[in-house]
Amino acid sequence: MKIRVVNGPNLALLGKREPGIYGNETLDDIMAAVGRRGAALGVSVETFQSDIEGELVRYIGQSRGQAEGLLLNAGAYTHTSIAIRDAIAACGLPCVEVHLSNVHTREEFRHHSYLSSVCVGVVLGFGGYSYQVALDALVWHVRERLHK
Ligand code: DQA
Repeated sequence: MKIRVVNGPNLALLGKREPGIYGNETLDDIMAAVGRRGAALGVSVETFQSDIEGELVRYIGQSRGQAEGLLLNAGAYTHTSIAIRDAIAACGLPCVEVHLSNVHTREEFRHHSYLSSVCVGVVLGFGGYSYQVALDALVWHVRERLHK
């Protein structure tokens, strides 16, 4: 099984960016931990990051047939992007929305997600560990619900 992990704008700055909110781990640290978790689960993990909405739309839209599921932290596009929402729906793959921070304890503009309603589920608030929880849940979903 292959899972694609997609990261949106400003996430390449993790480690330096607002560490009080996002922690000290870099995106590379977090992706390496997700890769190790994937290996333990017997799945391969492919990662992608872009600050550009259209590149995220294209990568997600082209994921059909390339992977069995998506983990997506769309960063601020979570709260603005109908195009990313449509790409998730169009690719037909199960997607888990991920956030490092608990967006519901933050500014009100972060409380709404355009993506959640086309995702299987959402994991947020556990820093970089959110991705590992999300990977476990996505692999469970694909194995237990879709392949039964
Ligand atoms: C984020 C939360 C978003 O509101 C914010 O714009 C981000 C990061 C998170 O992982 O907590 O860039 O997606």
